[in-house]
Amino acid sequence: MDKIVIHGGKKLRGEVLVSGAKNAVLPIMAAALLGEDTSYIENVPNLKDVHTMIKLLRVLGVKANMVGHTVEIKPGNNLKAVAPYNLVSTMRASVCVLGPLLGRLNKVEVSLPGGCVIGSRPIDLHLKGLEALGAQITIEHGYVRAHAPKGLRGADVYLGGNFGSSVLATANVMMAATLARGTTYVENAACEPELVDLAEFLNKMGAKIKGHGSHLIQVEGVKKLRGTRHAVIPDRIEAGTFMVAATVVRNGDVVVRNCNPDHNHALIDKLTQAGAIVTKAKNVVRIRRNGLLHPVEVTTLPYPGFPTDLQAQMMALATVTPGISVITEKIYPDRFMHVSELNRMGCKIFLEGSSAIVHGIKHLSGAPVMASDLRASAALVLAGLAAEGVTEVHRVYHLDRGYERIEEKLSRLGASIKREKE
Ligand code: EPU
Repeated sequence: MDKIVIHGGKKLRGEVLVSGAKNAVLPIMAAALLGEDTSYIENVPNLKDVHTMIKLLRVLGVKANMVGHTVEIKPGNNLKAVAPYNLVSTMRASVCVLGPLLGRLNKVEVSLPGGCVIGSRPIDLHLKGLEALGAQITIEHGYVRAHAPKGLRGADVYLGGNFGSSVLATANVMMAATLARGTTYVENAACEPELVDLAEFLNKMGAKIKGHGSHLIQVEGVKKLRGTRHAVIPDRIEAGTFMVAATVVRNGDVVVRNCNPDHNHALIDKLTQAGAIVTKAKNVVRIRRNGLLHPVEVTTLPYPGFPTDLQAQMMALATVTPGISVITEKIYPDRFMHVSELNRMGCKIFLEGSSAIVHGIKHLSGAPVMASDLRASAALVLAGLAAEGVTEVHRVYHLDRGYERIEEKLSRLGASIKREKE
């Protein structure tokens, strides 16, 4: 197992290149199952989750390979319908194969993903949507078994849940509906940029989807889909993590390249309120910290609100912002595993229900800390960059699920950061 060792307090200056979006590429790889021939997906980040998805596709009888940053997926005609526990339990996004396999084979068995460290993560909305399209669903022996004996048919599907819309439930229903008979309307659909990218990929395959990026998606079913070529969008969460990094250290001045600034309005707005100077151009954001930071109030919401996947990183910034910041989590009310680790670095964060009250201090003090999930790991790295002394972030395999060579990218900006064996 690796750890990341950071000597804090260094300036961050220069340019950093953002990789392709993990949360776009995973459903897109699953969507390639719908095609009758090969798809080529470009700008794919080299991440553990991408390799897990490749393994899962192979178990499903698909030829899948990654060469450089391109993934080639050849579904063939011998698809298998079972996504097993050993893979689904390591990556929740495996649930994305539910919709495409049901669309292609009219039957599928996917292991139930279960909860995870960021909180309870049910899949009731996925199942509700697929049932509306005509699937008969049972849960047996830890597996979701879905079967559509007469094939799927278009329907009106309402996908709102207690925590708003669901990204992957929208993805699953949209993917299944591409091969259904008739037209599907998904209401209260999620409108995250990753879903827009998925819809564009599906349309290139021959699907007829409209309204993606809004809360009402229309999918007119077609008989079959072909393979295609598509480059995935830049990762807005990775881009956002670098923007916070430039703000968390004193005198940060970082140009984040190959990003889409329009996907990060909510973060840029909060960083500007916090005192960062942000300038935007096409595919580029420059972010500078100049002087003292100001406390902020942040509430996570579905897109275009502030993303839950940047909540922990924003909290790292709040810990070095004198005064009281309040961070409220509305998507995953328990996603606060990073709080106790940040407190080990000398700050005071109190939890009040789904809000964190952060008493920022001038200097965090470096400490050994434990990563609990992907975004919490990123927050600990950011805190380590700002802290005095040495921070060791343990269990960085979480980080490798979603950030491609983050220590190399930060090191090129001037951070003193390296990966070591435990
Ligand atoms: N929810 C339900 N029922 C469902 C599905 C979701 O109640 O059937 C609830 C969830 O428990 C949560 C809320 O709805 O409270 C939103 O969850 P959503 O379904 O949108 O999450 P997801 O699709 O499973 C994706 C990302 C997550 C990201 C969330 C929210 C991927 C692979 N994962 O998950 O990314 O946090 O959307 O934006 O796209 C990460 O990258 O670190 C990560 C966790």
